[in-house]
Amino acid sequence: MTRTLPQAEPFRIKVVEPVTMTTREERARKIEATGYNLFGLKSTDVYIDLLTDSGTSAMSDNQWAGIMLGDEAYAGSKNYYNLLSSVEDVFGFPYVVPTHQGRAAENLLLYTLLRAGNFVPNNMHFDTTKAHVLHKGGVPVDLVRQEAFDPTSPYPFKGDMDLDRLESFLAEHNAKVPLVMLTITCNSGGGQPVSMSNIRGVSAIAKKFNKPFFIDACRFAENAYFIKQREAGYSEKTVADIVREMFSYADGCTMSAKKDALVNIGGFLALNDAALYQQTSGLAVLFEGFPTYGGLAGRDMEAIARGLREVIDEDYLAYRVGQVKYLGDLLLKYGVPIIEPVGGHAVYLDARRFLPHLPQDQFPAQALGVELYIEGGVRGVEIGTCLAGRNPATNDHDYPKLEMLRLTIPRRVYTDRHMDVIAVACANVWDRRSGIAGLEFTYEAPILRHFTAKFKRIDE
Ligand code: F0G
Repeated sequence: MTRTLPQAEPFRIKVVEPVTMTTREERARKIEATGYNLFGLKSTDVYIDLLTDSGTSAMSDNQWAGIMLGDEAYAGSKNYYNLLSSVEDVFGFPYVVPTHQGRAAENLLLYTLLRAGNFVPNNMHFDTTKAHVLHKGGVPVDLVRQEAFDPTSPYPFKGDMDLDRLESFLAEHNAKVPLVMLTITCNSGGGQPVSMSNIRGVSAIAKKFNKPFFIDACRFAENAYFIKQREAGYSEKTVADIVREMFSYADGCTMSAKKDALVNIGGFLALNDAALYQQTSGLAVLFEGFPTYGGLAGRDMEAIARGLREVIDEDYLAYRVGQVKYLGDLLLKYGVPIIEPVGGHAVYLDARRFLPHLPQDQFPAQALGVELYIEGGVRGVEIGTCLAGRNPATNDHDYPKLEMLRLTIPRRVYTDRHMDVIAVACANVWDRRSGIAGLEFTYEAPILRHFTAKFKRIDE
């Protein structure tokens, strides 16, 4: 019998960064000192850092070589032109405004298109997109399919927009909708992919109502890989072709290069329309910098240009999506409740099923994050009531339907052995779940409160 070879990482490790090992007692003290806020920890106090996949990728030798080719020209940097040709080859958009990160691209786009009182439909807004819509006096509207809110529904594209709701929303509010957006993968819904047929459907509806259609493209390559794996008619297509098709339906995209461009900083707005390019690149001078650098050094643009071409490599994507699934499968084996199916960049623990004795106003996902840090030095991030903030109309918490602790896997950084540690730490917390207390605020900032909030345990 010939055994099937297991698939290991499609790279060798060339540089390593030692991590600090701490004791349980040290961690309990350190997290208490932050006011039970994981954002307050020093990274050196964390063993396995799953706070975010944003800006945390390990760059390749090819990207580091590109860093040395950085040209620090104020205007017309060669690295800008390399970025332009990568974006055109990978996505098909001819105009690119570089920005210091993704939210800056959102700012340029929404500042240009949005007026106070407007609505922005999206499958689910990520929190910076939501904050930018609100900042300009607009109203973010989430129209994801209902399956997204059922943690155990096996629906393969839980990021899909509900097309019927989009169409009726546009019919009702046509004059007040300046653009339609779609976030791929759907981060706030568990890193779930959007199908090609849904992208096509959103595009057709946007065209019918004559609205520009923009994709929030942070995790476009992971999304494309899911289409290849799960959607009929795509298994024989290359990821490169799938990506081109995805973006052929859109008028442009906002991109945080800190995710699927495999870099530590950067972003861009990419567009088809020359007039919109003129307006947004003019604004970029005010907020970001001259339009051929947009707040980035030439070396950063070069690393993005190279990362965009690397990330669509199918061996890389099989490893990447496979590693996240490996962790998800381990957790399921231990009986730990997670959002299923596992998404592209993270495993999301379902805090409602994990800590059913804690009501949402006691921040169960935050409490779970604190315990996981104490247990194993693993830092996740709360995607729940604290992150959701308050409803401006009622001033009550804007209770989200899903209460989650996101375990976000940085790209090309941790090995499967680290995944084993994370899973055992989660299983240990699961075993002692009934003794976990809720949290209450001792400090709450008026906006984006999750970054600086301080809590105390309710039993204290
Ligand atoms: N859109 C999505 C879907 C995101 O996940 C993020 C960032 C942004 C936009 C903004 O990009 O950080 O470069 O300004 N998400 C990070 C996260 C912060 O941890 O999920 P940015």
